[in-house]
Amino acid sequence: MEIPRAPLEPAAVAAAVATAGGGWQVRFHAEAPSTNALAAAEPVAPAVVVADHQTAGRGRLDRTWQSPPGTSLTFSAVVDPGLPDAEWPLLPLASAVAVAEGIAAVTGLDPVLKWPNDVLLGPRGGKVAGILLERVAAARPLAIIGIGINVAMAAEELPVPTATSLAIEGAAVDRAAVLGAVLAALRAQLALLRSDRRALLAAYRGACGTVGREVRVELPDGAVLEGLAESVDDHGRLVVGGAAVGAGDVVHAR
Ligand code: BTN
Repeated sequence: MEIPRAPLEPAAVAAAVATAGGGWQVRFHAEAPSTNALAAAEPVAPAVVVADHQTAGRGRLDRTWQSPPGTSLTFSAVVDPGLPDAEWPLLPLASAVAVAEGIAAVTGLDPVLKWPNDVLLGPRGGKVAGILLERVAAARPLAIIGIGINVAMAAEELPVPTATSLAIEGAAVDRAAVLGAVLAALRAQLALLRSDRRALLAAYRGACGTVGREVRVELPDGAVLEGLAESVDDHGRLVVGGAAVGAGDVVHAR
């Protein structure tokens, strides 16, 4: 399959963001270290910071996020979630639902979520997208929702063998189109979270492939928890063998 590698054009990015509605301010960079870092340096909302290529992308749990030029969609949406602090832990879940929904809308594929917010695709359940959510202080606290989607990577370009891309799974799509669809879905899911937390949790549980599987969870303090993932509770935590986990890296047992 021919994999499109056209550079992201600022005008196409602006048009895609406008299509999503919501009045996002757009900041486009041909190259940037990290869109999350740029967003945090100048936090205004609603805004979208987009980089055609990131040179120092950041991942969850202090990891890096790397992609060859032209192959990934990397952006950060800055929002005022308008939520009490107790509900902020649901933001990564709402964002994951939105990324899966946006990918499905553009590709017709059917992503599955790995708790808390990895987006998996294809028969091997490869990771196609990751989300890094950060909180910054402004007049009101703002959420920086950093999203990286492997769009056009070929198999030999994957950063790790457990990853995949939209192209590998059969969808040769334009990065700007994916951006527009994910932003539209993000607006909708954030509105749902504000208006009906239970409906948002139901949408997340419906898309999450972690519950019902044997998992290994590496906790932030280095401890490891293994057992059956029983549920996602009303606070967005994963319940494994009776213990509720708020953060960690999950591996699905094969
Ligand atoms: C993960 O570890 O799964 C989260 C990866 C998040 C990567 C995105 S790419 C756009 C934004 N800017 C960053 O530096 N990271 C996020």
